[in-house]
Amino acid sequence: MKDGKSFIPYNVMRKLVVLTGAGMSAESGLKTFRDMGGLWEQYDVYEVASPRAWERDPSLVLRFYNERRKQLLKAEPNQGHLGLVELESMFDVRIITQNVDDLHERAGSSNILHLHGELRKSRSTKDPSIIYDIDGEELNIGDFCELGSQLRPHVVWFGEAVPAIEEAISIAAKADIFVVIGTSLNVYPAAGLLNYIRSGIPVYLIDPGELNAPPKENYTFIKEPAGKGVRILIEQLSMQT
Ligand code: OAD
Repeated sequence: MKDGKSFIPYNVMRKLVVLTGAGMSAESGLKTFRDMGGLWEQYDVYEVASPRAWERDPSLVLRFYNERRKQLLKAEPNQGHLGLVELESMFDVRIITQNVDDLHERAGSSNILHLHGELRKSRSTKDPSIIYDIDGEELNIGDFCELGSQLRPHVVWFGEAVPAIEEAISIAAKADIFVVIGTSLNVYPAAGLLNYIRSGIPVYLIDPGELNAPPKENYTFIKEPAGKGVRILIEQLSMQT
């Protein structure tokens, strides 16, 4: 900059922030939590996904997550995940996901923040900064970290803090367009992210079911599964650029 004036590149991409939930991966064959036949109908969440459960019966907790991991390893990203990668040619796409699966990564998305942890990682029960990739399907009693303490799944349990929420809020606050896909918006603090976006920016909500979100002028509801919904979103956004 020779003249010292500020320079704003004309082609700075707009920020498209996407909040995803279990419905994003439903077409990949992974069960959601609160739909009919969902995981929380089959299991008591406090028996398998809480600090109390880990204290009481760590084997049961590990079995629950080993089963989830086994299913994940058989699953593939779906058209919805792939569509979000396509959007990177038009926007600076940031994904905030509540999902513990790695289907956004495997689809090829570049910027992903996991709010509720990652199923294919384990962490030390002594020092939470020690995190490992899990090799294969199982984490078992007797699998220790380098300090000699039992490893636990690197996921957020009910009753635990969500360490990534501050970063998620800061990403949401910078959005030019906000998209919500496949989440019932029942679980906080993730569901509260909509409260941090700038007022009036376009918001798209993709979900085949009824959502816990009141209609607003700037909200567009696309009542479709993720694959078809993301396709419609791409068409609508392409018409505006
Ligand atoms: P939910 O099971 O609460 O909601 C899933 C949403 O996906 C519902 O709104 C469905 O209508 C929708 N859905 C179903 N099939 C779909 C499809 N093919 N395409 C798009 N949407 C579809 O799951 P989450 O909102 O993700 O937390 O749940 C939030 C958190 O609660 C999870 O991260 C998990 C859970 O307990 C922890 O385990 C900490």
